[in-house]
Amino acid sequence: MGASKNIPYGRQCIDEQDLKAVTDALTSGWLTTGPKVAEFEQAVAEISGVAHGVAVNSGTAALHAAMYAFDIKEGDEVIVPPMTFAASANCVAYMKATPVFADVDPETLLIDPDEVEKKITSKTKGIIAVDYAGQPCDYVALRKIADKHGLFLAADACHSIGGSLNGEKVGSLADISLYSFHPVKHMTTGEGGMAVTDNAEYDKRMRIFRNHGITADFRQRDGWFYEMQDLGFNYRITDFQCALGLSQLSRLPEWVARRRELAAMYDREFSDMDGLSPLGKLDGAKHAYHLYVINLQGENRSEKRKQVFSYLREHGLGVQVHYIPVHLHPYYKDNFGTHEGLCPVAEKAYEGLISLPMFPQMEDADVEYVVETVRKALAEV
Ligand SMILES: Cc1ncc(COP(=O)(O)O)c(C=O)c1O
Repeated sequence: MGASKNIPYGRQCIDEQDLKAVTDALTSGWLTTGPKVAEFEQAVAEISGVAHGVAVNSGTAALHAAMYAFDIKEGDEVIVPPMTFAASANCVAYMKATPVFADVDPETLLIDPDEVEKKITSKTKGIIAVDYAGQPCDYVALRKIADKHGLFLAADACHSIGGSLNGEKVGSLADISLYSFHPVKHMTTGEGGMAVTDNAEYDKRMRIFRNHGITADFRQRDGWFYEMQDLGFNYRITDFQCALGLSQLSRLPEWVARRRELAAMYDREFSDMDGLSPLGKLDGAKHAYHLYVINLQGENRSEKRKQVFSYLREHGLGVQVHYIPVHLHPYYKDNFGTHEGLCPVAEKAYEGLISLPMFPQMEDADVEYVVETVRKALAEV
């Protein structure tokens, strides 16, 4: 034990099978927009329990494509939680629409359906729920609200691939669900993302959007003619990235299972440790544990978090804080008039949050080291 340890909060796993998949793709003659893209889309749609997948070059691009599919425009409002990475709200701003922040539940830090309902106005077009840390949100309650008010429901599932709610797979819980394949996520394509949906019209719109707004329909008919029908982007992903994704996907169930084992070990140790609490669980949710988050308790949490965080870093733990509530970033304050006090639950929680190491290659002994180091940090700072 000691400072020679170096355990990050998340880490990708690349093995021989992945290397072979990538080199095979590189020498196949297709570098981009080839057969591996379609194969990867189908495979991810299948494990999500839906018909369509649109692969793009980041989770952020997937969120942006979803906002396009929903036809979000200037003047529209979309409800988002503050306890997330900025991309979940930025996608609304990309459309010149307004992200409206609805506070989270104090136990799970997932968007609180009652708070969502309070934020609905005549301009509201939809809800983006975020499966914070890997736990699916209460999509049953959110769906009721969305249906009652005629809103779309999107799931930012960048943390929760492989999870489920009441036996229903993540990916099938909203109108469109979005994944990220960034290296710290459950599985990686380097950079990459995907939007999955059962809706053929959304699927079509997102395909056009990821390719400059160009429709391929005429090309299929005439061979050369194409039309740019709207302003899109180049959000395409390469074949070798999708080959890596397919190879990684084959290990996803085993990796998610290991994440759950690690979380159960942490839970056992932390459930009655003074000075902190693990996050709450939602009934019926099967967590995918992108992150394992503890919340420091007691007086002066912000200062204590700073000290515990430094102590853990000094002892070889690459801990992180997820997240600074999005509405507190200067961009949001300056452009959308957000402020301290807007989402008090998220703001209070933020002061005590620390994300501990969580990735499938962690050994049981690594978990023990993390737990003991946290225990000492709480005693010594
Ligand atoms: C909740 C959430 N949404 C969206 C994203 C954006 O994904 P990407 O980094 O692939 O663009 C991330 C990535 O960190 C995320 O954690």
